[in-house]
Amino acid sequence: MTAAEGEAPPADLLDEAERMGVGQLRELQLQRLRWTLRHAYENVPHYRRAFDAAGVHPDDCRDLSDLARFPTTSKGDLRENYPFGMFAVPEADIRRIHASSGTTGRPTVVGYTQNDLDMWAAVVARSIRAAGGRAGDRLHNAYGYGLFTGGLGAHYGAERLGCTVIPVSGGMTPRQVQLITDFRPRVIMVTPSYMLTVIDEFEKQGLDPRKSSLEIGIFGAEPWTEEMRLEMEERAGIHAVDIYGLSEVIGPGVAQECVETKDGLHIWEDHFYPEVVDPETGEVLPEGELGELVFTSLTKEAMPVIRYRTRDLTRLLPGTARPGLRRMEKVTGRSDDMIILRGVNLFPTQIEEIILRTPGLAPHFQLVLSTRGRMDHLTVQVEARPDCPADRRDCAAVEVVKAVKDTIGTSVEVVCVEPETLARSAGKIQRVIDHRS
Ligand code: DLL
Repeated sequence: MTAAEGEAPPADLLDEAERMGVGQLRELQLQRLRWTLRHAYENVPHYRRAFDAAGVHPDDCRDLSDLARFPTTSKGDLRENYPFGMFAVPEADIRRIHASSGTTGRPTVVGYTQNDLDMWAAVVARSIRAAGGRAGDRLHNAYGYGLFTGGLGAHYGAERLGCTVIPVSGGMTPRQVQLITDFRPRVIMVTPSYMLTVIDEFEKQGLDPRKSSLEIGIFGAEPWTEEMRLEMEERAGIHAVDIYGLSEVIGPGVAQECVETKDGLHIWEDHFYPEVVDPETGEVLPEGELGELVFTSLTKEAMPVIRYRTRDLTRLLPGTARPGLRRMEKVTGRSDDMIILRGVNLFPTQIEEIILRTPGLAPHFQLVLSTRGRMDHLTVQVEARPDCPADRRDCAAVEVVKAVKDTIGTSVEVVCVEPETLARSAGKIQRVIDHRS
């Protein structure tokens, strides 16, 4: 597959916001932002306290640039107001609740009114269409159903577009392959790491994934690289496009890559206003600079978020396939996943790029941190591809050590393990295992 083969939707299928000029969009955003700031201030004690403490009032927002004067919101703020303290509407108006898994501390709870659920379905429908999906397509949904926003978020968006949804959820990999083979979906929605597991399973069953009915994969919920795109497009014969989102802002469908350009994700700015800030100082950075992505919801009723710090690192770029809407570059990683190894910053995506460029190595890897003496030590465990000869494995490991040293500037240990020995996940994969004392 090449990028040129991806088909743009005809103009008459686009939503109004996808066709808007920048001037008109900015006007709409300012009007919605002013409503959101008032709504948050009047109905959420946390925001009233935070605005008052910063000496700002919703009426101070006369221009979009005034947003920078308002305080940011963190995951910690949501946790402190657990479970429903950030809600801005009476409980009777909340139609659904989702929550993050909460592996560290309390889960983060989010709520939706009926209008919020409608808006969410509309942005996910828009995302699937930008990815190349159309009404009438069968869509295999392997994002997890439940409190995680992936499953239900994708589900209702696909129904809204007019797709036939196959609500498989994650796990039971042999059955995923059987259902794809028998039901012949055109589109799959799943995390990229689990898609790899599904592709492996096709091959294990002696089936060629390239001959499956799948034409489009919409992958998100975790960082993945251009190298991973190539791997999946070549092995499964599909277009692989990126979908981004987070529960606090809505769920999947905050930004989406267009299949005709595959050049980063257009942000659905009519509902989510982006900024990129310096992660250290919180200062707003000019367009094009790498920093932490911050979102303000523009239409959300149940749980408006003001300048929510995502901890995701990326940069804002001008629109292409949708010229009025800014793009975000593929996410480099979360600031929480950044490893600082003897003073050098390193992201799992950088290791993914190197591994996938090294012949003989599979895209299954784990980063294990430990302490040796008083030093941090990083071991990259990576699987050999099933057809990789034994003598090639050692060379491949040496090549990765060298590439990490040359491009990232730090020393790591690389262990090439047997195929099928590292843990797989049916959802988001955990790349970093920290054994440091
Ligand atoms: O992961 C929502 C989602 C579901 C997005 C399905 C896309 C597809 P959370 O569980 O709240 O929500 O996790 C949000 O996941 O802050 C990022 O760190 C990461 N993330 C999500 N999409 C991408 C992506 C869902 N396309 C957190 N690339 C975010 C990189 C992503 N990271």
